[in-house]
Amino acid sequence: MSHEDFPTDDPAVVTCGLPYANGDLHVGHLRTYVGGDVYARALERLGQRTAFVSGSDMHGTPVAVNAEQEGVSPEEFALKWHERYAETFPKFNVEFDNYGHTHDETNVQLTRDLVRELDDRGHVYEKTIMVAYDPIDDQYLPDRYVEGTCPYCGAQARGDECDEGCQRHLEPGEIEEPVSTITGNPAEYRERTHKFFEVSEFADYLSEFLDRLEGTSNARNQPREWIEQGLQDWCITRDMDWGIDYPDDDAGSDDDGSDDDGSDDGGDGDGNGDDLVLYVWVDAPIEYISATKQYTERVGADVFDWESAWRDDADHDGGQIVHVIGRDIIQHHTIFWPAMLHASGHTEPRAVMASGFVTLGGKGFSTSRDRAVWADEYLDEGFHPDLLRYYLATNGGFQQDVDFSWERFRERVNTELVGTIGNFLYRSLLFAHRNYDGAPATVDAPSDEVEARIDEAKAAVAEAVNDYSIRDLGDAVTHLAGFGNEYIQRNEPWSLVDEEPDAAAQVIYDCVQIAKAIAVLFEPIAPEKCERLWAQLGEDGSVHETTLDDAGAPPAGAFDEPDELFEKIPEERVEELNAKLEERVAAATEGEASAESDDEDETADHDEEGAVAADDVDLEPVAEDRIGFEEFEDLDLRVGRILSAEGIEGADKLARLEVDIGVETRQIVAGIKQLHDLDAIEGKTVIVLANLERAELFGVESNGMVLAAGEEADLLTTHGDAEPGETVR
Ligand code: 2FM
Ligand code: ZN
Repeated sequence: MSHEDFPTDDPAVVTCGLPYANGDLHVGHLRTYVGGDVYARALERLGQRTAFVSGSDMHGTPVAVNAEQEGVSPEEFALKWHERYAETFPKFNVEFDNYGHTHDETNVQLTRDLVRELDDRGHVYEKTIMVAYDPIDDQYLPDRYVEGTCPYCGAQARGDECDEGCQRHLEPGEIEEPVSTITGNPAEYRERTHKFFEVSEFADYLSEFLDRLEGTSNARNQPREWIEQGLQDWCITRDMDWGIDYPDDDAGSDDDGSDDDGSDDGGDGDGNGDDLVLYVWVDAPIEYISATKQYTERVGADVFDWESAWRDDADHDGGQIVHVIGRDIIQHHTIFWPAMLHASGHTEPRAVMASGFVTLGGKGFSTSRDRAVWADEYLDEGFHPDLLRYYLATNGGFQQDVDFSWERFRERVNTELVGTIGNFLYRSLLFAHRNYDGAPATVDAPSDEVEARIDEAKAAVAEAVNDYSIRDLGDAVTHLAGFGNEYIQRNEPWSLVDEEPDAAAQVIYDCVQIAKAIAVLFEPIAPEKCERLWAQLGEDGSVHETTLDDAGAPPAGAFDEPDELFEKIPEERVEELNAKLEERVAAATEGEASAESDDEDETADHDEEGAVAADDVDLEPVAEDRIGFEEFEDLDLRVGRILSAEGIEGADKLARLEVDIGVETRQIVAGIKQLHDLDAIEGKTVIVLANLERAELFGVESNGMVLAAGEEADLLTTHGDAEPGETVR
């Protein structure tokens, strides 16, 4: 990968996947938005000029179907939810520079311009295809209007995505045994002429693009497979009246180019009459550009120039684009979208950060069963938004699934935020205030040891940003606070104050300096708490405006008595919250107890066999039943060496490994596809359970098991000269 490290001189744009404007947000949804916000703030911390944008996804069947069920127009329905989201994000300190929506004029215009550019450059053609049709209801059934069987993995899938199986995008006509989701009528396939974008022409470009792409490894590994399997062209129109019209020259469409009433718009040049709009996945990502443009219109091009960021042509060099998304939409952001950008003279993404799902107490969120912790509910319970930000940002690697449970939430707040960070800050600042009215005035620089530790933390933050690791950002600060606790304890300023006042003053100055560094470095994760800490330290202005170097700048001096930044959550609160949740789920599922059908929504856990468990920290008690040594000896554990590793086609998490175990080479299937860079683990020494029964996972025989620990599948290894085939005892 050839990108220069952040900060660069180019403008950067950090985007978050657009939420469909169709329902309440829960804490699972917030993971992407918190992740994007943390990352954008951290980039700014490094001195990188950054715009942070997103918007509501207003079009498409995810909105139209729900609006129809509610009996209102899609526009009214989507605008209501858009307004709700625009209010909710700031409550979690997710502060977009611009939060727009796909139905606004800017996006309609830019979408039409970009599609026209694709068409003018010869990348769009017409083709007659079979599309699902409800003969009883007399209507076409695009995308979520139809469900059936995924032709790739056999899972139950909806029209345009295999959301509960292999996660693939499905083209119109692909779904098998189609049924209307509105009427339940079996659907038939009918001929229809649609527009296609020739994605297949860009296979070579996309392969090279993936070699350059930064971010999480899952965003590179899955698309590489799709390209190897051969890319299909992409149908970019739909038989609907809610969306943006295809920009044919002869389209007598609404003034704003959007279609919202289903009225006759005149011909589209496609032989289908009036009712074709662009597929929602065409205009949705273009909102990233539109939202940036609107930001420029507000602040001026001298502050942020959207064209320098987004245009890559004779007049512009392009900026640094970072997309933060859920892993269910990797294909759109690493295949269709970069092909559209490249084909129309726009900047390709520099990085895609694709998050894992969030589960609730080990199970998927279910909006229909009210099995969710809703965003508003979290705040109504009186919890500070920064606590959830911390939890979501640091409870695992970004691409791993994260389990939310009130128990775990309490434990992390009480141990890390209260016990480590809060404890250090309160005890040092209180001591400083009581004995010196703030940072001791007799000292003018931190000790070498403390200066070095702060430099280390700054470097760790810069590295975390360049590694796209939000969790490492948090770890850099908890480690620094942990050091602070150890430092004050080791130096005991309270025992030095009388006998060695200079030494005591130095220790306390050092602690204030560490506190200041924490405020600067932790702001991306806990912005509001750090703003308060900044004020407690008597510092001027906003900590949001600081950069990394301010972490080591001299403290302001005097400050008032501090108060505690974080408070413990009592155990009874967890019991209360769990009881409320259970009660709600029971009420919502009353009468449908037997309906064990999978209605888990988009943040559900899609684990396949062999996948890695989400939660590594709620440690299981040690098994009560003891086994004899002979039983242990029944396990044939061998040292192995990975010869090759590749993802299994169609499987979300499984990889096929060839492992040399000395006596022979074994094919083993392991749930590590998204957790390891498969190229990088070749040659690694691992431990293999060699006499495990053979199994077939996703159609591939697995002959043994590679041992791993923890939620990130940390592969067990040896540390000496053990050779493949040697026995582990
Ligand atoms: O899957 C979704 O929820 C889509 N609304 C995401 C759109 S992201 C984008 F590309 F705009
Ligand atoms: Zn599938």
